[in-house]
Amino acid sequence: MSEEKEKLDITIKSNTRDLFAFTKLVPNRKKRFERASSEPITGDPMNELVVRLHPIRQYLVIKEIKDETKSTKTFKLVPDPDLNTKKLAYFRAGQYLSLKVQVNGVLITRPYSISSTPSEALKGYYEITIRKEEHGFLTEFIWDNWKIGTKVESSGPEGYFFFEPLRDLKQIVGIAGGSGITPFRSIAKAIIDGTIDARLTLLYGSSEEDDIIYYHEFKEMERNNPTKIKIVYVLSCDFVALEECEKGFITKEIIEKYCDANSSTFFVCGPQIMYNFVEKELEKFNLPVKRIRREAFGEVKDILTHPEFPKEVAEKIFKIKINIGDLAKEIPAIATESVLVALERANLNPPSKCRSGECGFCRSLLIDGKIYINPVSDWRKSGDKRFNYFHPCASYPITDLEIIIPRAL
Ligand code: FES
Repeated sequence: MSEEKEKLDITIKSNTRDLFAFTKLVPNRKKRFERASSEPITGDPMNELVVRLHPIRQYLVIKEIKDETKSTKTFKLVPDPDLNTKKLAYFRAGQYLSLKVQVNGVLITRPYSISSTPSEALKGYYEITIRKEEHGFLTEFIWDNWKIGTKVESSGPEGYFFFEPLRDLKQIVGIAGGSGITPFRSIAKAIIDGTIDARLTLLYGSSEEDDIIYYHEFKEMERNNPTKIKIVYVLSCDFVALEECEKGFITKEIIEKYCDANSSTFFVCGPQIMYNFVEKELEKFNLPVKRIRREAFGEVKDILTHPEFPKEVAEKIFKIKINIGDLAKEIPAIATESVLVALERANLNPPSKCRSGECGFCRSLLIDGKIYINPVSDWRKSGDKRFNYFHPCASYPITDLEIIIPRAL
């Protein structure tokens, strides 16, 4: 029998088998009904699994705090059984938690990447690594107030910045800037423990050596797993004592030196200024859109740096009429702050997680007025655009507004 005919024969046989299996579907189902217990089903395992994987909130408590650099700390968070969180939700390396923190009477949310691994969540802890920002409203509060034993409320794991084997190539090139390295710690450790089947080359840009986070940890990971992890430091300051690093910024030439762009999927996470630079370098490779994954969480730091933002309104304070359920209220809003910040200042807290226009949790309806929507954070569906829905976290008032917002979760 020729090889061709043999293949055809196998296909026909297996198709026939599938057909027979289908004809037995109904009788087999009847038999299962007959054998089934007459006791009513009390549990709902599918819903229980959904709630475990996607809890609306998790109550956590700080178990350990580790200094990573002068301005960066890693917080180890465990379930707070007093508030009924017994187990932590599993996640995909690269996802974030949206923390809910009360600061001077104002409830705010901030997304922070989980820097520990999914398997460590199963062991009962998450780690998040936070860098203190200059004049950072929340990080200054965290530095002054968070201690071992402090209770922290968070969302379930969120976000799309993770390796997906059906979509991504096994060679990952991570491009990180500053504290944008935190999801890559999770990804690197998940590669090493076998949760992710991929290799990681990480190009990590920092201003100076003192800013490098996890230096020794990544060096050790690289030393012990040379076929899986490679890290390249790229320092932009003038004086660099560190051996084995690149100087300047993450350019096309540096990318080409360490990886084959055409057989890699890129994951980019860092400050806006780094995106602006790296995006242009990556454009030179002409890669398909799906081969560049971006984590853009957090609000734009200074909307005035956006060329399209109407500068003439920069000094203005507008009025926003808010409709939420039966309540109607008017609040002030600074043109250079997002609508979400204005709502939070007024203690009206619509649901929010990513604060970068991506998750859709703060989705609201614009009834009247004009907003400026940051184009890099405009992830709205076309239907939403057509019917005036917008994401307050990525939108700025440029006239007085009237809006409808969702209730807090
Ligand atoms: S908080 Fe995610 S879209 Fe606004």
